[in-house]
Amino acid sequence: MKFFLDTANLEEIREAATLGLADGVTTNPTLISKEGNVDFKQHIAAICEIVQGPVSAECTSEDTDGMLREGREYSKIAPNVVIKCPLTMNGLKATRILDSEGIKVNVTLCFSPAQAILAAKAGASFISPFMGRLDDIGENGLNLVSDIVEIYRNYNWKTQVLAASIRSPVHVIEVARIGADIATMPFKVVQQLFQHPLTDKGQAQFLADWRKSGHK
Ligand code: E4P
Repeated sequence: MKFFLDTANLEEIREAATLGLADGVTTNPTLISKEGNVDFKQHIAAICEIVQGPVSAECTSEDTDGMLREGREYSKIAPNVVIKCPLTMNGLKATRILDSEGIKVNVTLCFSPAQAILAAKAGASFISPFMGRLDDIGENGLNLVSDIVEIYRNYNWKTQVLAASIRSPVHVIEVARIGADIATMPFKVVQQLFQHPLTDKGQAQFLADWRKSGHK
């Protein structure tokens, strides 16, 4: 399973890249706005200098023509830029055209298996089911990812399942168990994946014993 960073913060992306845990990056308008009033294209270019894998840049137009204009423009920023289009009719129309032009699309805001089928039919390179947001309203985000993986396995579709809106290490473990192609997560979740109290306790004990016996 590939690890994508769900952030637009350059420091976090650099740190994850050092750990070999930034196979790609997903951004969205909210994440970009957290970085302040940055120049969008320059910021995406800066991310692409750190990460060689796919970097998602999201369209903010609501009509197909606007998404096409943005998609074509953003795809020139760097060869690894992927255009994010929303799972709307207009978004899938744009996906179809961008795909036919050789521009990769990550279809975002997917909340049902039916939507995921439509995205694959439109030629999406990635589908982003949002787990955490479904959990937030009392539904089961994991079931959605599981359904999509099961359905996609029946066909020879190129669309990769990119589990998104991940909120905890449990989400990461479970989507790995299901066989999602990619998990995109905030840097905080990457840090949480490392943590175990017995590791800390064991390490402290080893070092204490080492020093007690006169070693430095
Ligand atoms: C994915 O591409 C989205 O940017 C992201 O996973 C949304 O996560 P959130 O629901 O925590 O905002």
